[in-house]
Amino acid sequence: LNNGLGRTPQMGWNSWNFFACNISETVIKDTADSLISTGLAALGYVYVNIDDCWSAPSRDMKGNLVADPRTFPSGIKALADYIHEKGLKLGIYSDAGAFTCQVRPGSLFHEQNDAELFASWGVDYIKYDNCFNLGIKPEERYPPMRDALNATGRAIFYSLCEWGVDEPALWAGKVGNSWRTTDDINDSWVSMTTIADLNDKWASYAGPGGWNDPDMLEVGNGGMTHQEYRAHFSIWALMKAPLLIGCDVRNMTTETLEILSNEEVIAVNQDPLGIQGRKVSVSGENGCEQVWAGPLSGGRLAVALWNRCSSVVSITARWETLGLHTSTSSSVRDLWKHEVIEENAVESFEARVDAHDCRVFVLAPEVSYSVA
Ligand code: GLA
Repeated sequence: LNNGLGRTPQMGWNSWNFFACNISETVIKDTADSLISTGLAALGYVYVNIDDCWSAPSRDMKGNLVADPRTFPSGIKALADYIHEKGLKLGIYSDAGAFTCQVRPGSLFHEQNDAELFASWGVDYIKYDNCFNLGIKPEERYPPMRDALNATGRAIFYSLCEWGVDEPALWAGKVGNSWRTTDDINDSWVSMTTIADLNDKWASYAGPGGWNDPDMLEVGNGGMTHQEYRAHFSIWALMKAPLLIGCDVRNMTTETLEILSNEEVIAVNQDPLGIQGRKVSVSGENGCEQVWAGPLSGGRLAVALWNRCSSVVSITARWETLGLHTSTSSSVRDLWKHEVIEENAVESFEARVDAHDCRVFVLAPEVSYSVA
């Protein structure tokens, strides 16, 4: 969407994956404080997004949405002020239907009213869900909120959450700044790998202003190993996915923080070229040895070696699959070890990768390759 926002994928935090409906203004404020104290905000994680369950079960007498008085007694405006004072941005959630997925009032047919209310509160981001949609096509339900947000004059990031049901990559580029391509993620290796593969299909539709959204990060929530979370983060970064932290940042382990704050991997995600990296080769048993890659600015390439097998393997990235001439010489920098592993690789490079782990490299070829 050409509204000046999302020139690189959005970064921040969202309440759903860890808290679900157990949210409150205290949780949101403490999370904002933690994003700052951990250094995550300074790395670009600036959106603090409240998901479902922030609102009271019904609209007020004037037809306005109201924050749940038990959990958000000070209201959303006060919360936005708090977040803004810290230099962060506030996101909120509604639904292109009669109700949200947790049966709070939806915004369908209230688009203008709700957009104006959100803007008056100082909201910077809206995630717009797909429950109770009355069987009306998403292509008809999502543009009215875009127009209503645009009419407020406030810059509000517009995140479509229609779960990939009507192939949003094909039409949402003009509607939103990102669109979910799949059903909800859960905190498991199977869910994460399945979603990565589904999202890969739409790579060519992503770019500055509009991104494929394979759902929020589960890093730090406990259902995957350290290696699996590192792979999750690596591939989401490479796929130019939104980097929305989904764990409790108030109580993170050092390992979790280390993954989320890898500046070199974040830089791949935030590269100004904005081209989604994709799966470029599979080999091994059931295709478990995978190479994912994509171009970066300055003629460089990001290459991920992803081991989906159950034991350690050596994976080779060949220049031909990366679109490089075989005689081209390139340096190869390991973004997790933070070191150059080869100065002048030609034809290919290989590396050992632990089970379910992913290693990410940046190649800086001496002769810039051409994008096919
Ligand atoms: C849907 C969305 C999720 C989350 C929940 C909240 O399932 O896809 O991301 O927002 O609703 O109810």
